[in-house]
Amino acid sequence: MKKSFFFICFTFFSCSLIVPAVFGQAGRPPATKTPGPANRSSHAGLQPDGNKPAWWKEAIVYQIYPRSFKDHDGDGIGDLKGIISKLDYLKSLGITAVWLNPIYSSPNDDNGYDISDYRNIMKEFGTMEDFNVLLKGLHERHIRFVMDLVVNHSSDEHEWFRQSRSSRDNPYRNYYHWWNAERGKPPYRYSLFDVNHDAWRYDSLTDAYYLHYFSRKQPDLNWENPALRKEIYGIMRFWADKGVDGFRLDAFQFVAKDTTWPKFPDGFEKDFFQYYAIGPHLHDYLREMYGQIFSHYPVMSVAEGAGRNMQDAHDLVDADRKELNLAYAFDGVSVPRPEGYKLSEFKEVFSRWDSAFADKGWISIFLANHDQARMVSRFGNDSPPFRELSSKMLTTFILTMRGTPFYYNGDELGMTNIRFDKIEDYRDMATLNDYQYQKNKGADMAAYMDFIRFSARDNGRTPFQWDSSPQAGFTAGEPWIKVNPNYPVLNAAAQEKDPASPLNYFRKMVALRKKNPVFVYGRYLDLDRENPVVYAYTREYRGQKMLVLLNFSATDAKTAIPVNMANAKLILSNYKDVFPGKRIEAPGGDRAGARIMLRPYEAIIYKL
Ligand code: BGC
Repeated sequence: MKKSFFFICFTFFSCSLIVPAVFGQAGRPPATKTPGPANRSSHAGLQPDGNKPAWWKEAIVYQIYPRSFKDHDGDGIGDLKGIISKLDYLKSLGITAVWLNPIYSSPNDDNGYDISDYRNIMKEFGTMEDFNVLLKGLHERHIRFVMDLVVNHSSDEHEWFRQSRSSRDNPYRNYYHWWNAERGKPPYRYSLFDVNHDAWRYDSLTDAYYLHYFSRKQPDLNWENPALRKEIYGIMRFWADKGVDGFRLDAFQFVAKDTTWPKFPDGFEKDFFQYYAIGPHLHDYLREMYGQIFSHYPVMSVAEGAGRNMQDAHDLVDADRKELNLAYAFDGVSVPRPEGYKLSEFKEVFSRWDSAFADKGWISIFLANHDQARMVSRFGNDSPPFRELSSKMLTTFILTMRGTPFYYNGDELGMTNIRFDKIEDYRDMATLNDYQYQKNKGADMAAYMDFIRFSARDNGRTPFQWDSSPQAGFTAGEPWIKVNPNYPVLNAAAQEKDPASPLNYFRKMVALRKKNPVFVYGRYLDLDRENPVVYAYTREYRGQKMLVLLNFSATDAKTAIPVNMANAKLILSNYKDVFPGKRIEAPGGDRAGARIMLRPYEAIIYKL
């Protein structure tokens, strides 16, 4: 029974794999106070493997879920002033860019991913003045700002939709997709968030159905309409003129639809991605966007999702196509299952993506975001003896791979899944609607509760654990979602004091990556592919070679690698104490290579 949840598209963030699986422009701050033009890299002049250096390749992006980061006004919801109060914390991490989930006006059906005014700030989060202060504060600290742009759909409370639904001949009618009811029922389209999984919603006002791939309150915008596209570019210009340094295009691969609305084969929803991603004219829209926006503003661009295959991914980001900068693919975050996962699959996914982008194009590296449960609970081991070690090990992975790291807030502390027992504790509409859907069809709800304890998005959305005061120092009020009860022991204040904490380890790793371009641009080589518990790889660039060894298991492990360790220098380890006894056998390498011992969840980096 449990298994069946994997064949239902619970959320597309994991479903895609579960199912068979800047500056110098008007309005920008003066260059001296900012990190510099978009493509200026601190390693300019180097020409890595056909990839030209760029700031967004060298960036370390830290993702903030604003609703849960820090509440300033005591209403229980994180806000911009809260983030402003933590600017020095952000600086202390060493990260170079911040991506904020949507902060626009929104009725919050989907926590801001349902926008009712693209040129305003959500009232719970603050004001435009707060935004200006935040942006300035980030730039003063040499941190760039990436804006979430949600334009596959708007809120049903957006003025465009109010107009659109008001009559069939309203000028805004074609801003959305409508199907007049006299034509009968529209061909079935799967909805990711709808309680019946039906993406067409009947609206009696004009006797027609509108399309919503996500919730009923998130009607899909019609990108075939040039007037709509013009509006979107206007919105992008508005924010780019304010000085934002990048856009993350939410669910963008879904914007283009075949509006002849062909019937899809029965059961297509099990693999809906193949039918929804990269629809007709998507690349035309991106090239138009490039011409309108990206060619004028030195901003970085990343679309959520990277298409159906590697060709799609390349077509989105190969520089000569003049579309986007970075691919953000879900394959990596879809590896873990409630029953565990195989390291071989993890290695295979990351090696495959690395090799496909070794010479051309650029990818993102991440193990978590706001659509995923916590990294340490999914990929590591969040039981007390291993939580810190395994979270530091995963941090080592993210910050030593090629591609731009997108690191999710709270993971630097090793924050864990909350694992709610009661459905009433969940807040995410996607989970609540799916719960109802499963119940309606008579699913085994105990098994379902187990499933969401492992996978629900709310696991990754509990308040940031700042200290051991009530509500983890997140709010003086009642938080919008419960704080993880482990905050008295797991919090930033405690970790500040411990030089070996996950937080301080994250800082060290960030500094190491920033100092060594080999971690950004270097060739990657997987050395011990068959090893079921150790991930061993080298990164090599311009005469510099680093060896990264990661033990993904709770027991001692050994790796045998074809590397001469005779002059290897240990750069970093996630253990406080030195290895007891002899760690390396045959350092010069014999026929079996050098054999290196690792402790549970140990991560070590050698300079070769
Ligand atoms: C976002 C989700 C959101 C969905 C609908 C996704 O790509 O990351 O958080 O629920 O788009 O906007």
